[in-house]
Parts: sequence; structure tokens; C-alpha cells
Amino acid sequence: MNRYIINGGKSLHGDVVIGGAKNAALGIIAGAILTDEPVTIENLPDVSDINVLLDAIKGIGATVDRIDPHKVVICGKTINSVVVKSEVIQKIRASYYLLGALIGKKGQAQVAMPGGCDIGSRPIDQHLKGFRALGVNCDENEKDNCIYANVTNLRGNGIFLDVASVGATINIMLAAVLAKGQTTVENAAKEPHIVDVANFLNSMGARIKGAGTDVIRIYGVESLRGTEYSIIPDQIEAGTFMCAVAAAKGDVTLKNVIPRHLEAISSKLEEIGVRVEESASGDEVRIVAEEGTRLGSSTVRTRVYPGFPTDMQPQITSVLMLGSGNSTVTETIFENRFRYVEELRKMGADIDVKDNKTAKIHGVESVTGTHIEVPDLRAGAALTIAALAAGGQTVLDWIDYIERGYEDFDGKLRGIGADIVKETVDDRSNLGTE
Ligand code: EPZ
Repeated sequence: MNRYIINGGKSLHGDVVIGGAKNAALGIIAGAILTDEPVTIENLPDVSDINVLLDAIKGIGATVDRIDPHKVVICGKTINSVVVKSEVIQKIRASYYLLGALIGKKGQAQVAMPGGCDIGSRPIDQHLKGFRALGVNCDENEKDNCIYANVTNLRGNGIFLDVASVGATINIMLAAVLAKGQTTVENAAKEPHIVDVANFLNSMGARIKGAGTDVIRIYGVESLRGTEYSIIPDQIEAGTFMCAVAAAKGDVTLKNVIPRHLEAISSKLEEIGVRVEESASGDEVRIVAEEGTRLGSSTVRTRVYPGFPTDMQPQITSVLMLGSGNSTVTETIFENRFRYVEELRKMGADIDVKDNKTAKIHGVESVTGTHIEVPDLRAGAALTIAALAAGGQTVLDWIDYIERGYEDFDGKLRGIGADIVKETVDDRSNLGTE
């Protein structure tokens, strides 16, 4: 188990370079095996979820050549198995993308049911509905906790998603690019990483139109070719640093961002008194939160893109807990995403959660460091933010969750003046992932 020791109360100053988007990278790595030609992926985030997925495709025979931490060359030609059941892959959510990719490539897949952070029930019925519409037989085997899929004639079809699921939208794209005929996904998710995965697949010769809108059309092609592709910057990593500056105060410039992807977060921060300035170059954002000035209050409701992201809900709560007045944060996507609130309360936050859905935040002037524990990835980021803003020392256990989605989080924070160190307590990490 790893932990952070954070001495709070230091304002943040300087620059942070934002890495590639984890949730785009996961879909892109799976998509890379759809061709027999080499695929070069750049701006890859070096986080544990990505490394687990790379190991999984290596496990089924793909060639994975890690040129450097942020660049990998994948070749799916050597894939010799459709069985992805290792104990490690069972812990990551994105294992489900290997279902879509193997269905597209081999017409068969046996993949462990996806795990992931305990942030809600997280069914995959919409993924299976999509595959079945393409003619795939899918069985969920409870005995070995696996999905068995096979298809002889993968054909395009119309699919209406009951919920605009990010995972289902990407998975259907992965399966349908090599299907015969046209697939239409209605009520598709619109998150930036959906667009990035579609752009990546198109760079391999796929014909996907409409990604980023709620109707995506996929015109099946015979085969895909190799490509070189650079992943978009991570909207959630950027948003997390924005909230860190808002809570701990300071003046920080985030480099390698797409400001348009941050608008829901920027507008909330501006509403409560943070300055957010986009650079003329269009790929930097400067965040200024004046020391000695208390931020205001707000109402936040998580929504699918372009609404306020569920993956930023914990972090904005850590900012609003220190604002003046009362704020409300409502979670509408996942039903179990407030477990960190108990930890914030130990630090002195005044927050009540109703029905696991709405946090009523009564702003306090300060919080105090104590010994707390990370329950999941984004919650971990939120607790780090709280600790940076707190008086005194926080010991934050189980930061292994944070490392699944943030590359060198403590190093980047130290680089802008935070007093944070990482300690390894023992090595019994056994985590579910994103
Ligand atoms: C993706 O999860 C992300 N994970 C999550 O990131 C993110 O929180 C989430 O999208 C929402 O943006 C990856 O990209 C690997 P969904 P996913 O399918 O695909 C319901 C992080 O911190 N649903 O969009 O699992 C579901 O229960 C993480 O990086 C069904 O009912 O999310 C939820 O209420 C955590 N049936 C809603 O849809 C389905 O078949 C949205 O889930 C699928 C989903």
C-alpha cells in the first residue's frame, strides 16, 4: 500500500504539463489490435490502468513495444488467443473493450467481467445489447465470471442506447468498424474520448461519422491499417489541477490542454471567484485563486458531456467545502460516488449526503489534516486536494487508486510547490480500477 504525507496550507505556483487522456487511451489500445499492421500511440499516460491493459493484450499474443513511457507500438498480427481472464484484468473496467475489439477482429471473445471502482452497480447490458444487435451471441457465465461472445456474420444494425454510456458507445464502435454494412448508434455518449477513439479508428481507415453528437454512424470496412496517433490531453487530470489551485490558492498554468473540454469546470470555478484564462495559443489555461480570498458557493449537477463530469464531482466538492455559504452537489451518473465525504468530515468539512445522491455542503473556513483513506480514484484526487488546502498534516492511505489514473500526481504537485511525499507501507495492493 502506498500513501501520501501532505503538509497543507502551501499555495501552488508554476506550470503543470497535462498528460494524455486515460479513458481515451484505454479504447485506443484495444482498437489498435484490430489491424495486423503496427500502430504507434503517442501521448500515452503512464498510469497503472494503461499498463494492465497493455499486459492483457500482450497476454493474448499482441506485440507491445514500449518505446518510452508515453509511446507504444502495438501489433495485433500475432494475436493467438481470444481468452482474457487473468486475475489482473478482472480488476480493470476497460477489460470490456477487449470484448468489442476481439469480436471485430476474431469474431470470438472470452473476457472476464469488468471490475472497476465501487462507484455504483455499473452494468454492461448496453454493451451486450449493442453486440447482440450486430449478430453476436453473448453469454454471461456466472461460474467463471466471464462473457463468452461469438459471431459468424458480423453485420451492421441500428442500436438505441437506453443510457448514453461511454463504455458501450466505444465498445460498439470497436466491434462495428469491421462489420458488414452500416451501424447507427443513437443516444451515443459524446465525451471527448469518444471523439478521440473515433478519430483514431478513422486514422486506421475506419469510416465513423458523427462522433461527438448523439448519433454515430459506422460504415463497416473490409480491413484497417496501421497508424500513428497522439492521444488528446486528459480533461479530468486538467480539471483536477484546476480544483487543486482553487482550493489551495495560487497561480498555475496548465500546458497541453484543450480549453473547450474544460468549459463545464472552468465556468463553475469562475462562478465562485477563480480566474481562468485561456492562452492565445489555445493549448494552455491559467488558474488564479487569490490567497486570503474566500471562494463562493454553487450548485453542481453531474451530467454527460458537455455537462459537469461525474469524474470531477469529488474534486469540486473539496473546493466548495471551503467556500462561503451553502453549496449543493448532485450525482446523477453513479449511485455510490460520495464515499469520500466521510473522510472529508474527519478533516472538519460540514457536508451531509442525502440518498447517496446529493451533498449539502455548508462551507467552512478551514479544514485540518488527519489520517484518512482513499476509497476510489477520483475520490483520492479530491482528498489530496482537501489535504493541500488543509492546515497541518494529512496521511492519505491507499493512494494506489490515484496511481491508476494520474501519472506522477505527487511529483507534478511538488513541482508547483506542494509539500507532498509518497511512502510505501507494504506491497499488498489489490485494487479494483476505474
Ligand atoms: C466511463 O465508465 C469511464 N471509464 C468512467 O471513468 C466515467 O466515470 C464514466 O465513463 C462516465 O463518464 C472508462 O472510460 C474506462 P458509462 P463507464 O457506461 O463506461 C449506466 C474514472 O474515474 N450503464 O458511461 O463504466 C452506468 O451504470 C472513471 O476515470 C448502464 O446502465 O461509464 C452509469 O449509470 C470512473 N448499462 C451510466 O450508464 C450499461 O451497459 C454511465 O456509465 C453501461 C452503463
